[in-house]
Amino acid sequence: MIRSSHPRDSFDSETPQTRQQSLALRGTILRFVGNPFDMPPEMALSADTDGVILIEQGRVSAVGSYGQIAPQFGSDVVIVDHRDKLIGPGFIDTHVHYPQLGVIASYGEQLLTWLERYVFPEERRFAEQTYAQHIASAFLDNLLDQGTTTAAVYCTVHPESVEAFFSESSRRNTRMIAGKVLMDRNAPDYLRDTAQSGFDESRRLIDKWHGRGRQLYAVTPRFAPTSTETQLELAGALLDTAPDLFMQTHLLETLREEEWVRSLFPHRTGYLDVYDQAGLVRPRSIFGHAVHVNEQDLTRCAHAGCTLAHCPTSNAFLGSGAFRLFDAMRPDRRVHVGLGTDIGGGNSLSMLRVMNDAYCAAQSHGTSLHPVQAYWLATAGAAQALGLQHQIGQVEPRLEADLCVMDPYATPLMAQRAKRAETVSDLLFALSMLGDDRAISATYVMGLRHQRSTP
Ligand code: GUN
Ligand code: ZN
Repeated sequence: MIRSSHPRDSFDSETPQTRQQSLALRGTILRFVGNPFDMPPEMALSADTDGVILIEQGRVSAVGSYGQIAPQFGSDVVIVDHRDKLIGPGFIDTHVHYPQLGVIASYGEQLLTWLERYVFPEERRFAEQTYAQHIASAFLDNLLDQGTTTAAVYCTVHPESVEAFFSESSRRNTRMIAGKVLMDRNAPDYLRDTAQSGFDESRRLIDKWHGRGRQLYAVTPRFAPTSTETQLELAGALLDTAPDLFMQTHLLETLREEEWVRSLFPHRTGYLDVYDQAGLVRPRSIFGHAVHVNEQDLTRCAHAGCTLAHCPTSNAFLGSGAFRLFDAMRPDRRVHVGLGTDIGGGNSLSMLRVMNDAYCAAQSHGTSLHPVQAYWLATAGAAQALGLQHQIGQVEPRLEADLCVMDPYATPLMAQRAKRAETVSDLLFALSMLGDDRAISATYVMGLRHQRSTP
């Protein structure tokens, strides 16, 4: 049996509407049996080409081969046929700015001037909750169209932007991580808080939203240049006000930014140390980009158990550089890594596109990212990095049924390439090199099918 109704009508009639019915998805089921950075990657993924997932009360209740488990289904089970499609966990985007949806694909600047010219004026508009609500709604629909069911999301400095985001996410019952941006210096007046007001507003938002349904809060200092030391320290103090809070910020995205941080914090040994001294480097802390990290930074991150969000699409778009993924993943001091779209720095909300760009970034360092490794980073690996592996990121009994159905034959170009694939790994590779939202056939949130917002 699954939830009998949903407040929105954007979930289609395939969803069983009576309390007696359960849902089963039939297709090629993708499951990880290990970490593809610790074993031959193709051995880490199992693909049951005629498999089925049974969903009850929003959770996966059984997974297995269709022939074996379907005969045991009761008459209340509605079977949805996704044969010739791949069914896996929903994607997890570990770094994205919802208020930047409107300024995606803005021409001609690198990070710091791009922020001033495009991003800050747009973020000003989020003081108005109606506007924030409108963009949050469009953003979440777009995300679901792309098969992404969880994201770590920056709002703006305005509490209204957070209210808007979490209320839209609650309506869709999506598991989202988000928070109010903290910024008490080096930003336009209209986007500045103070160390104290940022603390107070964040506390109120944490009390209201953290752990409410599927919503999770991230304390969100934008990056070191826009916060005083006092604000960063108060961000550290906020993390102790409730269990399992997240922290998100930017780190070492560009060399110019690093130089700026060194001049603002001359008494610190480096950029990461600025965050470390404020108590921000810990499990559930997500550092966006980290393109220019050194060996010492990686060792510290490995010990601290924090996460680096690799955003290759954005790094290419803004000309920031290329993250050294295989350095971060070195087995002797493994750092948690997730993938992020980082829109508007990134110009796509598609995690398939991010997997493509991650492959290209690795190639630029003379390394090859295996498709199973890329897929793991975008799903199970990200869940593990964020400490959410018992809720999401895999297709396993008891986990929340956030699922993404992918079509490797979605376009004529993809179809001719997919036909040549002799292994699931190769099929996944072609899918990630050629695919985008056209290859996302269906997205399920706690077992309910999302109705696409775009044709
Ligand atoms: N560094 C500080 N703010 C931002 C932002 O909004 N986007 C990106 N890509 N980098 C940042
Ligand atoms: Zn960012």
